[in-house]
Amino acid sequence: MGVADTFRESWATRTGFILAAVGSAVGLGNVWRFPFVVGEAGGAAFLVIYLLFIVLIGLAAILVEFVIGRHTDLNPVGALREFGGSSWRYVGGIFVFTGIVLLSFYAVASGWAIRYTLASLTGAYMDDPGAYFGSISTGWETVGFQLVFMIFVVGIVAFGIRRGIELAVKVMVPAIIALIIGLIIYAVTLPDAGEGFAFYLDPDLSVILSEWHRILPDAAGQAFFTLSLGMGVMITYASYLGEDRNLAEDGGVIIGLDTAIAVAVGLFVFPVLAAAGAQYEEPGAGAVFVSLSQAFGDIQFGAVLGFVFFFVLTIAALSSAISLLEVVVAYLIDEWGLDRKVASIAVGSVIFLVGIPTALDLDVLALYDALAANVLLLLGGIIMVVLVGWLQSEKALAELEKGIDDIGPWGNVWLWTVRGPVLLVLLIAFVLAIIGFVEEVQGFIWG
Ligand code: PHE
Repeated sequence: MGVADTFRESWATRTGFILAAVGSAVGLGNVWRFPFVVGEAGGAAFLVIYLLFIVLIGLAAILVEFVIGRHTDLNPVGALREFGGSSWRYVGGIFVFTGIVLLSFYAVASGWAIRYTLASLTGAYMDDPGAYFGSISTGWETVGFQLVFMIFVVGIVAFGIRRGIELAVKVMVPAIIALIIGLIIYAVTLPDAGEGFAFYLDPDLSVILSEWHRILPDAAGQAFFTLSLGMGVMITYASYLGEDRNLAEDGGVIIGLDTAIAVAVGLFVFPVLAAAGAQYEEPGAGAVFVSLSQAFGDIQFGAVLGFVFFFVLTIAALSSAISLLEVVVAYLIDEWGLDRKVASIAVGSVIFLVGIPTALDLDVLALYDALAANVLLLLGGIIMVVLVGWLQSEKALAELEKGIDDIGPWGNVWLWTVRGPVLLVLLIAFVLAIIGFVEEVQGFIWG
């Protein structure tokens, strides 16, 4: 048992929990990573496989984390210890580590988003978008914006579940949805919008057949990343949840909203790129920043559009970042009895320091990204799936059934989905992620 097990916070409302989970899920992953992964991996062909994975593994995997979290009412380290046995706490330690690494560079990319929001006011990125990204993506000013972002994250988490996170997401998530709808309405009216929609929505079967080895791991990785799976965010958020909740229903709503928002962002991005005659497949971290800001320079009302778009990106990133920090903070509160404010500031400072190298060198950022977003998240996913699916499945099934009136055969359907297809897809994606990471490291060392 943790030190501070006498009083534990909880969500005030069901909506609060759902919005917090959606806020975590919707982030740079949807607005920044998703469109460029789609662009790189073949447009609509990728979209089809991705949606398949969301349905096939997303729901099953999010329930794995929900079950562990609600059953134990603890942070990921404590939760795995309670759920799996005492040595499992070391495994939970991996999640805390992942959270630290992930947030450390996430804050840097979020700092870019703040920078671009401000730059929209002056049009600073419009003359030479490539050069502009080059000039702001690294350096000590980048560290400054990383710091500003981290201050917001710490500020929210320090206020706790109800007065901090829940309050913040109740404002941020509806704002994200409303603004994206506004952006799409504008994008539809652009000349050549149809061309962008076609690339995005009209799958080319031959691309799926010839590129499947690239599309599959990318789609699986993106599905996991965008749903904030594999490092205990959903364990932590579900630990603040009552037993009367229907986890399957909530999971479905959360996944539906995250997917709708990801798809919706594409409905804006691709028409804008098409209208500006830009490339869809410009790869790399700068992709959306460079190609979109170029497009904003070319179309009518581009500056306003840019401002709204990058503002959405910033708040989406913020609502994800608070969930990453909360994992580590909850660990320190539960296990070490630390005060929430002290824990938030201390962890926030450490994460800021760990992230500084990624603000100074894009190759280091890519290295952190490959390690955390691919290798560690998938590893975490495999660990949880084995624990819930194979080792403690009775306990897990009983927990899932709470709050569901008549689960019928669905409990077993879930269990076997977790045991079979989900585990298999994760294992394959994990092997490919390791290969990718080794290549990344080699590239980094040998230049
Ligand atoms: N889901 C977030 C996004 O799409 C990223 C994230 C991953 C957040 C893992 C928390 C945990 O940006």
